[in-house]
Amino acid sequence: MIQTIEWINNKVVMIDQTRLPTEEVYREYDNYKDVAQAIKNMVIRGAPAIGVAAAMGIALGAQSISANSYEEFSTKMKEILEEMAKTRPTAVNLFWAIEEMRRCAEAHRHLPIPQLKEVLKNRALQIRDEDIQINRILGKYGAQLIKSGDTILTHCNAGALATAGYGTALGVIRAAYEEGKQIHVFVDETRPFLQGSRLTAWELAKENIPLTLITDNMAGYFMRKGKINLIIVGADRIAANGDVANKIGTYSLAVLAKEHGIPFYVAAPISTLDLSIRSGDQIPIEERNPQEVTQIAGKQIAPEAIQVANPAFDVTPHEYITAIITEKGIAWPPYEESLAKLAR
Ligand code: MRU
Repeated sequence: MIQTIEWINNKVVMIDQTRLPTEEVYREYDNYKDVAQAIKNMVIRGAPAIGVAAAMGIALGAQSISANSYEEFSTKMKEILEEMAKTRPTAVNLFWAIEEMRRCAEAHRHLPIPQLKEVLKNRALQIRDEDIQINRILGKYGAQLIKSGDTILTHCNAGALATAGYGTALGVIRAAYEEGKQIHVFVDETRPFLQGSRLTAWELAKENIPLTLITDNMAGYFMRKGKINLIIVGADRIAANGDVANKIGTYSLAVLAKEHGIPFYVAAPISTLDLSIRSGDQIPIEERNPQEVTQIAGKQIAPEAIQVANPAFDVTPHEYITAIITEKGIAWPPYEESLAKLAR
């Protein structure tokens, strides 16, 4: 299985996702500021993976704190937590992991500092391990929705690389494939950062899961031709009413799916739910560097000095979503009720 992120000899090690698929380069980080930078630069990306990276980065930062009391320790921890919170705004898993680490420190405040550091490291590793288990369970639930012969469209990368391993949307696809179902995956290229062509196609090809790579603007064509039976995507944040923030382009797919009567599923762990917000309108959308749009692999593909928009995510209103697959089961509309029940 692909190792997205590991803790080796007090270093955080991750595969550099900006270099895939042409190079498999592993980066080693020995301080939390560099881990924060790696999240910002998308060396690691994907909502659950960002959460795991933040937890490990915080644990790494905690190891280097020198403090004589918990109060001193906690002041320095706060700086680390704040730095992590500034990395990327949309995926709620980041804030979930930061809160988990803060709570863990607080719950063990009575321990001597060296032991407290050990506990924090173990909690980060546990978050990583749990993420893989969650994806496997979620995958099994989701696989029930897939039958042999299905052609599935996916967008962005919600695979092993976007998580600690196995994946959410790709976890469902993997599980169906492991069950012996004959499936075929249409992979959206996913401009501008190309997570589909660079990462999802790489993951699927590695496991011999049959795939066809398409550019984003081909999706409607293949839906109209009857080539797509269902769509599965991941999520960066899900509001209480079931509105879903995911990679830019997800909303257009969902609208097309409805027009063509194609089921549109979202696969995400419970840690992606943000029940504190009523609707997707309240989800902050990250605006990224215009160069991601004006350049491909460092090559300029648009005139210099023009106005560019680069929202990294969009929000799909809940009425376009057939069901939301989680590790606690499948949520069906009305989502206010079903999601709240699963989150309990
Ligand atoms: O900008 P990215 O690559 O971090 O965006 C990732 C996505 O939008 C994924 O679909 C989402 O995080 C789910 S990953 C299991």
